[in-house]
Amino acid sequence: MNYFRKKPLETIEKPTHLKRELKTMDLILLGLGAIVGTGIFVITGTAAALTAGPALIVSFIIAAFSCVLSALCYAEFASRIPVAGGAYSYGYTVFGEIIGWLVGWLMICEYLLANASVASGWSGYMNGFLDGIGLGLPIALRSSYNAETGSYIDVIAVLITFVVTYIVVQGAKKALRLNNIMVFIKFGLIALFIVVGVFYVKPENWTPFAPFGVKGIASGAAVVFFAFLGFDAVSTAAEETKNPRRDIPRGIIGSLGVATVLYIAVTLVLTGIVPYAQLDVKDPVAFAIRFIGQDFIAGIISVGAIVTLLTVLISMTYGLGRLIYAIGRDGLLPKKLSKVDTKTKGPKFATQIAGTVSAVLAGIVPLGKLAELTNIVTLMIFVILAIGIIKLRKDFGEPKDGEFKVPFVPIFPIVSIVVCIYLMIQLSLSVWISFVIWLILGVIFYLTYGYNHSELNK
Ligand code: ALA
Repeated sequence: MNYFRKKPLETIEKPTHLKRELKTMDLILLGLGAIVGTGIFVITGTAAALTAGPALIVSFIIAAFSCVLSALCYAEFASRIPVAGGAYSYGYTVFGEIIGWLVGWLMICEYLLANASVASGWSGYMNGFLDGIGLGLPIALRSSYNAETGSYIDVIAVLITFVVTYIVVQGAKKALRLNNIMVFIKFGLIALFIVVGVFYVKPENWTPFAPFGVKGIASGAAVVFFAFLGFDAVSTAAEETKNPRRDIPRGIIGSLGVATVLYIAVTLVLTGIVPYAQLDVKDPVAFAIRFIGQDFIAGIISVGAIVTLLTVLISMTYGLGRLIYAIGRDGLLPKKLSKVDTKTKGPKFATQIAGTVSAVLAGIVPLGKLAELTNIVTLMIFVILAIGIIKLRKDFGEPKDGEFKVPFVPIFPIVSIVVCIYLMIQLSLSVWISFVIWLILGVIFYLTYGYNHSELNK
């Protein structure tokens, strides 16, 4: 029994049939397309109201710091092992099969949950919009189950997940091409919000600055960490990048930097115009603009958020289908999942399964919990990758000329591990329990299925 067997590097670095045409700017846009979404448009409100208050900007800085450290690790991996599959492939190469599988298993969980979160956030704006035009849904159908408020299921989140799955199955390339336009629309919306909102900022709303203390700031960081996820999408584009060793790291760090500045600006304005305690709403950015009486602009922001969050959902569903496909191709998941549809040339079955599970999650689990779960799973992946960098250096030596190099190894990876674990500890017990159950299921699945069906058996 060798649970730590590895794929030989030469079989991983097989020549690719994808066209190499992406450059730094494309990658930054790709990153921002994946990063900017529900986090800033939805979660910021609740996080400010219930977790950190105006000090949420500090939470954003902590979360960004943690992501930059992880992004550096991603960048070195991406530049030294430039293949699709992201963290899953890195784990497989450095630690061997069982760890690679666990990273893949966690990534599936991360994508499923993130997908459900974005659908849930989308529904927040859609419900707000429907209310605005007098077509609001009854309470029972607006939100995940909550006995106190009388809601049972988030119908819109479920429906949109199925619609998006259908679109992606039909061939997502067309939809993905819209990404760059959507990034500009998203930026336009955020700029509009800042430019209009800044005139209504009342500095007294920023006091008390940290009503929930240091604990609140730390928990806030563990929650808004979600808003930065997606930067790894850049590293998965390695096979389609012209000069991956140079452009992938730039793409990752560039998109993360831009997102951080945006998030801080939005949070400052948001908590400057609305007293933080009132921000516990599902469409805070539009809500804040309605709060200052600019209903028309609020309408534009709502519609814009509805359109742009939709593309986030499309790219996530796309990524999830591909990830399951890649793991299935290695034999660690049933081969049926890696079947490519003859007509659409995409992993139809994998995408449909992914969409269905996301829809169920989006319908019944509240957004806050979805986001927390996404975070704990992702933080664990980051911890494994940071350890992976240390091991990569030990086994494969220093990066060659032209390859990206994480500075100060092992100090940076160790700091990254400490910060990630610190953030994980901030998350609630129920989230930890779900996380541990998922991990155990993953190990059982590998031992009873994956190990015996792996392509490495051949
Ligand atoms: N960062 C992504 C979002 O905020 C997941 O929607």
